[in-house]
Amino acid sequence: MSKPSLTITDNRTGKSYEIPVEHGTIKAMDLRQIKEGPDDFGLMAYDPAYMNTASCKSAITFIDGDRGILEYRGYPIEDIAEHATFLEVAYLLNEGELPTAVQLGKWTDDIRYHTYVHTNIIKFVEGFRYDAHPMGMLLGSIGALSTFYPEAKDIGDPHNRYTQRVRLMAKLPTIAAFCFRHSRGLPYEFPRNDLGYIGNFVNMTFSIGGKHEPNPVLQRALETLLILHADHEQNCSTSAVRSVGSSHVDPFSAVSAGIAALYGPLHGGANEAVLFMLDEIGSNDRIPGFIEKVKRGEGRLMGFGHRVYKSYDPRAKLIKKIADQVFEQTGLNPKLEIALELERIALQDEYFTSRKLYPNVDFYSGLIYQAMGYPTDYFTVLFALGRLPGWLAQWEEMIKDHEQKIARPRQVYLGQRKRKYVAIEKRG
Ligand code: CMC
Repeated sequence: MSKPSLTITDNRTGKSYEIPVEHGTIKAMDLRQIKEGPDDFGLMAYDPAYMNTASCKSAITFIDGDRGILEYRGYPIEDIAEHATFLEVAYLLNEGELPTAVQLGKWTDDIRYHTYVHTNIIKFVEGFRYDAHPMGMLLGSIGALSTFYPEAKDIGDPHNRYTQRVRLMAKLPTIAAFCFRHSRGLPYEFPRNDLGYIGNFVNMTFSIGGKHEPNPVLQRALETLLILHADHEQNCSTSAVRSVGSSHVDPFSAVSAGIAALYGPLHGGANEAVLFMLDEIGSNDRIPGFIEKVKRGEGRLMGFGHRVYKSYDPRAKLIKKIADQVFEQTGLNPKLEIALELERIALQDEYFTSRKLYPNVDFYSGLIYQAMGYPTDYFTVLFALGRLPGWLAQWEEMIKDHEQKIARPRQVYLGQRKRKYVAIEKRG
């Protein structure tokens, strides 16, 4: 049988080309041979926002957006969210297999060993204004870590890369907790290495006078939320990590680019935006008016819609279950009622159903974080904490991929050409 291929006829020249098809894709570079004449640069694919462009081959996360399927290294998210710990998931994403007890022990110890940060980092975080957004603080501080570990630049050494990935896993929760305490004017709480990864983080955020009474249900709920966020293939922040990392910068700088991308309201900032939206709506009777506004194009229903999922986001289904467990502990949040009613009305409305707009992971996550005691502007930091293992796994995969080069898209230039400089007094 002949190899799968695509025959393209260029109607400008009448010439035909046979382009190989592999894994349901053609290589964009194979289009370059299609030219109108010898001086022609060759055909390119135009794809703003990468709507239909695969930028890499990956074996980390599988998504079928039409069927609402999400798998980490082949394991369905539902199974993983129910049974695994966050550190197991981080290992799975990074190493490709679920760890044995010995492997998990080493991974946990390696991370625990690096939880403390250089005291100068504390001064650095202290330098932010009292009202600085925690994501801005996190982004700056993680970027600054690269100056503390200049050896991280040696990205060709696998052992060195492992150490830096472990450092990021260990230090991001510590710095994230410092940002939380900074916003509240509380003294920073240092890592407690007798606690687990989640327990230590919760302790660093909520401990007062060195004391915090852990609630196992809330801690497991937080852990599950982080697991649900751990990777999502080539999303905006992961693409940012890969793209910036493709310049062979150190992983602290690449991850801080991911944090910057996640900060935006169309990505990780959406859970914060959902809470603002629910506040703006205020009560169930105002929902229809709000929906009409969205349909007129005056704003979006935040927490709805997804570039990939064109059915219910499987993470949103799991999050709804977690919400029940959390609210049983903390008491009902009146905004949950508005959210449930908003979802019910939107899912019956032709505007949303015809565009396949369903609740995404962020629709309910903010409500849960709020019930746990995290302020709205901290939600995206929690998303970053969850997404970190995915960023690191994708960064490592990118570095090892011999087909990858520095990310450098092309453009279609439509501006002016060959103009003569005009002196300022002659412009008008
Ligand atoms: N509310 C109202 N209309 C929407 C929404 C929404 N949330 N999302 C998309 N649409 C409409 C949009 O106006 C467009 O309509 P039309 O065809 O009439 O112009 C159509 O649906 C397609 O939208 P799009 O902007 O082309 O879709 P996209 O794939 O570029 O956008 C999205 C995906 C997530 C940015 C978008 O759905 C959105 O802005 N949602 C709200 C923000 C949000 O919840 N983001 C979190 C995403 S999940 C977490 C993560 O992975 O970061």
